[in-house]
Amino acid sequence: MIDVLFLPKRISQQEVCVVIDVLRATSTIVTALANGAKCVIPARTVAQAKRMKVGNVLICGERGGVKPNGFDLGNSPTEYFGVRGKEIVLTTTNGTKAISMINAQVIYAACFLNLRQIVKRLSGHMDVTLICSGQDGKVAYEDALCAGAIVHELGRDELTDAAKMAKELWEIHEKGDLLGALLRAEHAQELIKYGFSEDVSFCAQKDLYDTVPIFSKDRFVAE
Ligand code: MLT
Repeated sequence: MIDVLFLPKRISQQEVCVVIDVLRATSTIVTALANGAKCVIPARTVAQAKRMKVGNVLICGERGGVKPNGFDLGNSPTEYFGVRGKEIVLTTTNGTKAISMINAQVIYAACFLNLRQIVKRLSGHMDVTLICSGQDGKVAYEDALCAGAIVHELGRDELTDAAKMAKELWEIHEKGDLLGALLRAEHAQELIKYGFSEDVSFCAQKDLYDTVPIFSKDRFVAE
């Protein structure tokens, strides 16, 4: 069975979960690992991230969309092209919070940038839960769209109602331009207002990377 959670909740005992935060946390995680970061370690709070700052570590993320004082990088995926060999500690408002709520045997991070490879990885698994990070407790259009794209590409018959809804949302936009669809999202409009329109365009690229982040102990590494 393929299920979609439009908002994160505490889950355990699942075999395979996929966390999605298209704008921007999982797009950032994928980009960092694709550009040679050793790992991405999610942190719950800014203070926790600051305590983890040692030698090879970059502390990164956002609050209210912008880089907290004293951080090395914000949450724009395009800031992560020069991170080879670095350990990234990442704290974001919704994405890293969603990750902390999941307890599963396998946790992947997905976005449009790694869509094709995520679908490949999932094709061997019967039961998969796709978890949308949402935005401040509200359903996020862009995450539901990406979940729908994954469900569509998997081509399975056994879908929950939520998975069917996400798939049908994707199928409305499938043949159109992805950026146009993402621009329908409230969060995309907020990012544009705060000067991050390039991030929205960047995150609207399908299959830019083959990297599949998998959660191992306390961090994402490239599988
Ligand atoms: C989040 O995790 O809340 C998002 O990635 C926010 C953002 O766009 O920076």
